[in-house]
Amino acid sequence: MSTLRTPASTPRTTDPDWWRNAVVYQVYPRSFADADGDGLGDVAGITSRVPYLASLGVDAIWLSPFFPSPLADGGYDVADYRAVDPRLGTLDDFDALVRAAHEHDVRVIVDVVPNHTSSSHVWFQAALAAAPGSPERARYVFRDGAGPSGEQPPSDWVSNFGGSAWTRVPDGQWYLHLFAPEQPDLDWSNPSVRSDFEDTLRFWSDRGVDGFRVDVAHGLAKDLSTPYRPSNEHALPLDGSDPLYDRDEVHAIFESWRTVLDEYDPPRAAVAEAWAPAPRRVLYARPTELGQAFNFDLLEAPFDASAFRTVIDRNLAASRESGASSTWVLSNHDVVRHATRYGLPDGTDTDAWLMTDGTQPTLDRERGLRRARAATLLVLALPGSSYVYQGEELGLQEAAAIPHDLLQDPKWIRTGHTVKGRDGCRVPIPWTTSGPSFGFGAVAPHLPQPADFGASSVEAESGDESSTLSLYRAALAARRQLQRGELLEWIDAGDGVVAFARHDGWRSVTNFGTEPVALPAGSVVVSSGPLTDGALPGEATVWLA
Ligand code: NOJ
Repeated sequence: MSTLRTPASTPRTTDPDWWRNAVVYQVYPRSFADADGDGLGDVAGITSRVPYLASLGVDAIWLSPFFPSPLADGGYDVADYRAVDPRLGTLDDFDALVRAAHEHDVRVIVDVVPNHTSSSHVWFQAALAAAPGSPERARYVFRDGAGPSGEQPPSDWVSNFGGSAWTRVPDGQWYLHLFAPEQPDLDWSNPSVRSDFEDTLRFWSDRGVDGFRVDVAHGLAKDLSTPYRPSNEHALPLDGSDPLYDRDEVHAIFESWRTVLDEYDPPRAAVAEAWAPAPRRVLYARPTELGQAFNFDLLEAPFDASAFRTVIDRNLAASRESGASSTWVLSNHDVVRHATRYGLPDGTDTDAWLMTDGTQPTLDRERGLRRARAATLLVLALPGSSYVYQGEELGLQEAAAIPHDLLQDPKWIRTGHTVKGRDGCRVPIPWTTSGPSFGFGAVAPHLPQPADFGASSVEAESGDESSTLSLYRAALAARRQLQRGELLEWIDAGDGVVAFARHDGWRSVTNFGTEPVALPAGSVVVSSGPLTDGALPGEATVWLA
């Protein structure tokens, strides 16, 4: 084997399996902290908050894209994979962030976006300038159209943001984009695409990053010979027969990425964003591939005991089988925050809440937050690793009243201004109780914050033992004492209660109902709500040692 490459800086603890039970905090860079006062979060801002993240008790941060980008999709339209957006800083700033994080024993994961580039990427600009059939076009998916003069898109495929997944260029050809037209899909059967991405993995690994989050990992292989697709839903077949997603051919790509990631000491970690059914999702997480895949099942589940139990069972079993560690996610930059989801009337389609047609159901914020705290504490007790989205540790709600002319999400545009999209979970987080952007920066932020955000700021919650921030801090500190493992044993505690013992003996009990239940024996480590008269209140979780 060739000599292993060691990075410029490493965390003090060098456990190669750190990711198996890590708590990973997702930073959405443009909305985290604005050091240079231009209204947009930046890399130096993140560095300034590393002590906060370390004291919160997270093991790693995952940075959503901070690369140069026209921002047609919040940075998931990357114009240069090996640079920092000049509005967010420089590569030196990035190196300083990695050093600061490592000095605090916090690891750094960066996002890679291999399914598509930005349309302003030099490759796509060269493809537009070149002729049909040229090597420049062969890096993307260009095709002639259907119909007598090619005026119809080559297939009926629909973009994830609405509308056709094909856009026509002036010479009459069409290119594929599973997302916005500004995000042309790469052709991963082209070896030059593959080798360039492997160099990108090396570029960031050489700078000391500890791992990668792989965007749309299940989308890289396509079957262009199947022009019609029954649906654009996420309910994918179990046999890999969908023409666009979760095809078997995709795994060879990640096997070859694993070889690159293993060139490093310790090997670089990776987590797939693969919206595939659990039994197929874990294939991306095999030790020969990425190691982990996000499990979004809880994020899609209602606040319901049997739904949670089913999801947990299914995912622990699938992970054990594949040799991966489980992952748990309740919120991220793509979905309505869980404190808000759980405050909507049971059975509400969350997307309906994002519609602008005036049919929005009423939100019960207190209930939402109570349930969110209970669900979070349950999830943090599970074997495997947990992904926490910035601001959820403050119990933030979705920002629901962003003026329509300030919405940025391509969903808003591509749905003809009927679905607001994802901006409500992406507004800059509040650090202080007052100020022009509640401590985010010196000026008004790029997305407006709700007027009452200061009450949920880090400053407001730090001194308050009952705050959500204090709950996260206590839970993460306690979690550090737990042992790694992939096993749990269910305890029968009655209807509406999810209770389990971990292999290290700790127990977690969640009351999904609204009436108190008797608290089992044991010493209380942490609870999501006040325990009175030896009872666990409704919509609450307790950990017992
Ligand atoms: C998944 C990302 O999480 C989302 O924000 C983005 O819009 C799509 N992939 C396209 O890159």
